[in-house]
Amino acid sequence: MTTDAERLDANRRNWDERVPIHLASPYYDLAAFRAGRNTLHPFELEELTDVAGKALVHLQCHFGMDTLSWARLGARVTGLDFSNAAIEQARALAHELNIEADFVTSNVYDAVAALQQRQFDIVYVNMGSLVWLPDVHVWADIVAQLLRPGGRLYLLDGHPYSHVFGEEQLTVEVDYFSAEPMRWDEPGSYADANASTAHNTTFEWTHTIGSIITSLATAGLHIEFLHERAEAYYQRWPFLEHGAENTYRMPADMPTIPLTYSLMATKPHA
Ligand SMILES: C[S@@+](CC[C@H](N)C(=O)[O-])C[C@H]1O[C@@H](n2cnc3c(N)ncnc32)[C@H](O)[C@@H]1O
Repeated sequence: MTTDAERLDANRRNWDERVPIHLASPYYDLAAFRAGRNTLHPFELEELTDVAGKALVHLQCHFGMDTLSWARLGARVTGLDFSNAAIEQARALAHELNIEADFVTSNVYDAVAALQQRQFDIVYVNMGSLVWLPDVHVWADIVAQLLRPGGRLYLLDGHPYSHVFGEEQLTVEVDYFSAEPMRWDEPGSYADANASTAHNTTFEWTHTIGSIITSLATAGLHIEFLHERAEAYYQRWPFLEHGAENTYRMPADMPTIPLTYSLMATKPHA
């Protein structure tokens, strides 16, 4: 029997191996970032305002381009990821670009201790994050512990409804309601489908929109908004049309469905 700890180990090996692939990929376009490009979506800057001078922790920060983009806007940033390969690259990038930032190697589930009980003004979590976590209720509780009273969670992620469809077409192939993870054995990466890879087994969990909202409410957070979005940020299906800035949408002759969502939740003052 496979335990969640073993599943997370498999996921980490997969991510460690993909760090250099992503660094070299046009998808992440490191050269443009080095030249000053901000990797955040314009709507993120409209939804998560007033970051200058704020303490922001980015959970599951990968190699830190989005974290460092918030720093370029004046936030005092900390990035956390369980892939040490990713964190080493994030530190190197911050050093090279002379951007002040802390990066910490830790499982999200150990974040409170790894960050020494520090509290933040903003917890930031973005695309492709919650599917890697077996328990969204424990995650929400950790987010609440990381926020100071009055602090904000900003979450941008894939819409769980979009997970039920097959890889090639809109046929329902995967449970929406399932506590069990999906096991995938896929070489390459969303950033480079042809990359040669050895650690290809991953385990991913679908957390329903209801369970995400309920877990945040149960953790004592106040939901400010949930914006469902008709755009994805990678080629989720072959028929999606590529727009500006890594944005992919349904063609005009197909129905729209929610592909991503953004959410703001705040921690009330005691
Ligand atoms: C798709 S990235 C999200 C970051 C960002 N959207 C990006 O594309 O750069 C997912 C990240 O989650 C990290 N991760 C997965 N499971 C984790 C866990 N249990 N604890 C900490 N990090 C985890 C992976 O190492 C990876 O860097």
